[in-house]
Amino acid sequence: MGERLDRAVAMDAAFHIGTYSRKHVLFVEGRGMTLVDDGGREYLDFVSGIGAVNLGHSHPAVVEAVREQVGRLTHVSNLYYSEHQGALAERISELAGGERKVFFANSGAEANEGAIKLARRWGVTHKGRRCVEIVTALGSFHGRTLATLAATGQPAKHEPFEPLPPGFRHVPLNDLDALEAAITRDTCAVLLEPVQGEGGVHPCDRAYLKGAERLCNERGVLLMLDEVQTGCYRTGPAFAFQGYGVEPDVVTMAKSLANGLPIGAVVAARAVAEAFGPGDHATTFGGGPVVCAAGLAALGALESEHLGAAAERVGAYVRARLEAIGRETGGIVEVRGAGLMIGAQLAEPIAVDVAASALDEGVILNNIGDSVVRILPPLVCTQSDADAALDMIHAVLEQRPDTRR
Ligand SMILES: Cc1ncc(COP(=O)(O)O)c(C=O)c1O
Repeated sequence: MGERLDRAVAMDAAFHIGTYSRKHVLFVEGRGMTLVDDGGREYLDFVSGIGAVNLGHSHPAVVEAVREQVGRLTHVSNLYYSEHQGALAERISELAGGERKVFFANSGAEANEGAIKLARRWGVTHKGRRCVEIVTALGSFHGRTLATLAATGQPAKHEPFEPLPPGFRHVPLNDLDALEAAITRDTCAVLLEPVQGEGGVHPCDRAYLKGAERLCNERGVLLMLDEVQTGCYRTGPAFAFQGYGVEPDVVTMAKSLANGLPIGAVVAARAVAEAFGPGDHATTFGGGPVVCAAGLAALGALESEHLGAAAERVGAYVRARLEAIGRETGGIVEVRGAGLMIGAQLAEPIAVDVAASALDEGVILNNIGDSVVRILPPLVCTQSDADAALDMIHAVLEQRPDTRR
């Protein structure tokens, strides 16, 4: 392999705190669906920076907006007004159905931290001092900060970092009775991912999310949806909640909002947003001019290129082909997801091998644990792009020693 990769590996081992186990590849360029490594080899990207470049790599509209803004003014802080911040907030409010206000953060975890604080502030203001509890789903993922880790419904991730902030209850996903039982007078909010991403690509059932909305309305509790991964047309509509026909009080976004630049957003109904006043929450970099220029360009291009409709169309094709591969090889037991957020549950725990074989063949796939292959390409992915990944998966599953045969 190339000298640049060797050097990156050596420097990483010597100087980076070892929180990542990385694949042995150094990408140095990207365009659309394609990434290029340090040796000039091209790969088709079905991970898109973990759902963070829905427009594909180096989209010209985003590149131009960033280039223009970064050459003029990069940062002033939130002590002053900032160009593009208001326009991006307005666009997000419109996309979410209007009458919303936005707080900009720098990541998904930070957006969720902001939403958790907002919900507590709202609960204490409207329902009393004890009203600070948040109910979330088992299998969920909301981030790596202490509060978002506590919100994350994966106990194994909690243990090494206890004690975590109190005030979170976890219930099984898609079990409305369990959700109803968990909501008490101390509950200020229910926080759910419309489609659990890191937890293995598990969608909320339609009846469950509608039922959660009804329960929240009846009990005077906020419905908060974490759309960090499902937002920005990933599942088809601008927000996944629109496909479910629910109206959340608070939505969080991040990932692809600025097509690969760090940004996060808390999007709250006006009446809820009023719970925050000056000094209640802040960030140095959030909503800066460069990321907001990128965000406006990214949302504009996602819309003008009709990539939500493309995600639905190509996603349906990918799911149908995965199901057919499953029937043919016996290697896939379930295909889950929405739009271009797809998980294939394998019959055997070989998802790591599938992703590794794909990388050898120039196809970038991601595995969630041993048994789920995740397909999360940029929304510019065409059917013939998708065929490259699907053929790979087919070939690996066909060649595996099948215990059923
Ligand atoms: C649903 C969801 N929420 C929150 C996060 C955390 O986002 P970040 O890594 O930007 O902090 C992620 C990241 O994968 C996510 O998928």
